[in-house]
Amino acid sequence: LFGFNTNRVSGYFDPIEPTKEDALVLPKNFKYDVVAAFGDVINKKGDTFGSGCDYNAFLPIDGSNVRGLLVNNHEYSTIFSIGPVTDGKMTNEQIQKELYNLGMSVIEVYRDENGTWKMDTNSKYARRINGFTKIDLTGPAKGIPALEGAQTVTGTFANCSGGVTLWNTVLSCEENFESTAEAAGLPLTHYGWVVEVDPFDSKYMKKHTALGRFNHENTAMGLASDGRVVVYMGDDKKDACVYKFISKGKYDKSKGRANSALLEDGTLYVANLKSGKWMPVTIEEVSKAIQEDPELQQKFKTQGDVVTYCQEAALLAGGTPTDRPEDIEISPFDNTVFICHTNNDNHGNIHGHITRIFEAGNDLGALEFDFEIFAAGGRQSGFSSPDNLAFDSNGHLWVVTDISSSSQNKGVHKSFMNNGLFVIPTSGPDKGKALQFASGPVECELTGPFFTPDEQTLFLSIQHPGENTKDLNNPTSTWPNRPGEKMARCAVVAISGFKLSN
Ligand code: FEO
Ligand code: CA
Ligand code: CA
Ligand code: CA
Repeated sequence: LFGFNTNRVSGYFDPIEPTKEDALVLPKNFKYDVVAAFGDVINKKGDTFGSGCDYNAFLPIDGSNVRGLLVNNHEYSTIFSIGPVTDGKMTNEQIQKELYNLGMSVIEVYRDENGTWKMDTNSKYARRINGFTKIDLTGPAKGIPALEGAQTVTGTFANCSGGVTLWNTVLSCEENFESTAEAAGLPLTHYGWVVEVDPFDSKYMKKHTALGRFNHENTAMGLASDGRVVVYMGDDKKDACVYKFISKGKYDKSKGRANSALLEDGTLYVANLKSGKWMPVTIEEVSKAIQEDPELQQKFKTQGDVVTYCQEAALLAGGTPTDRPEDIEISPFDNTVFICHTNNDNHGNIHGHITRIFEAGNDLGALEFDFEIFAAGGRQSGFSSPDNLAFDSNGHLWVVTDISSSSQNKGVHKSFMNNGLFVIPTSGPDKGKALQFASGPVECELTGPFFTPDEQTLFLSIQHPGENTKDLNNPTSTWPNRPGEKMARCAVVAISGFKLSN
């Protein structure tokens, strides 16, 4: 509909060159507005926007492309949100700040008559979900001994990427939860799940344990040919697996949010890349693999145990360890599935790659697949360490990169300079070619690209600019350069300037 012509991506923007500038650099004729930054008041109650912006989802209000709810994940703290941490140990005050600032924000955003995107702090929907919010559990791990019998848990944090459901709620993924849970004295088994939030209903929050507990990066939801719901998920850890969950029941559009119950009952599968098979991660399969191991038999007695200790169970079930699977997206054109394997220095995969899965019969419910390396990071492609993905309606992949700030502008990463946002066509003559659309401020990672339905606005998070700052009086980045202050703030921006294509 809008965006970029499939065969001539570069015809609609002039790709930029890599840069080390402490700025968000965009192609000419594009602009950005900072919609919300760390510490900004988001509602009448005085709640403030959290730290470490990651995933974004824009949910239109009354079908509007210029007013809606923006859900943003808050992944982790920086020196700007909790101050310097001495000896690697947070003080109690810092732990409380961290629990407050992580989680999610629901904010209301709109484009004013001058074309500037702003936050509406009078919103009745705007709220924080954080390390103190009570959230109900669903599925096989609810109430089991490994979770200390919990039916409800306290808080969500380390919220990385996520996804929108077919029924207009948002799934948020708990990724590297260990350090916060340990520092706060919270049970580790209460975190590492997928959280469902209804931005329009503050009472509706669930942790769906049927989707497994691991270092969840994302969710990508689609439908099997027979109408069951399929959710693809990455486990962002070195040598970890790619998963998909298939619901038992079928999606029924007329039921709206009640379809959420589909995420409570189904089968979790893990990819075996050698056989091209999705292997069930079930107590039946795990039990077969541990027949000779009394110790593991103690650990894995029920499906609740399997989902709780999912990384170990997945390997027992035949999952293939991979190079840090981050975001996954389903192509809206052909149901192929794109996975960012960001990098893995255990195997010398320094620049990472994007894998494309072809499900048998193009059916997301298939249990067999084939795959290819769709694009490899490195000098030739022009990107390194791919992370979040988004599709536009022309089938172009929008890919952000996450070269760690300790590697940026050094050694084999030198030529890539600051992290960026790239556009890669998935078909046509430019298939697999990466064109740079944006470059982020110093030491940041760009995260959470998300288009409005008309593709006239792209929301994007600027995560951890200046994260290597040691001295608050001498920050390594000062973006977004708020008047009168000398600090960096993570923020969500709205990018506009997209032209209609014919
Ligand atoms: Fe939070 Fe795997 O990135
Ligand atoms: Ca990520
Ligand atoms: Ca995505
Ligand atoms: Ca990453």
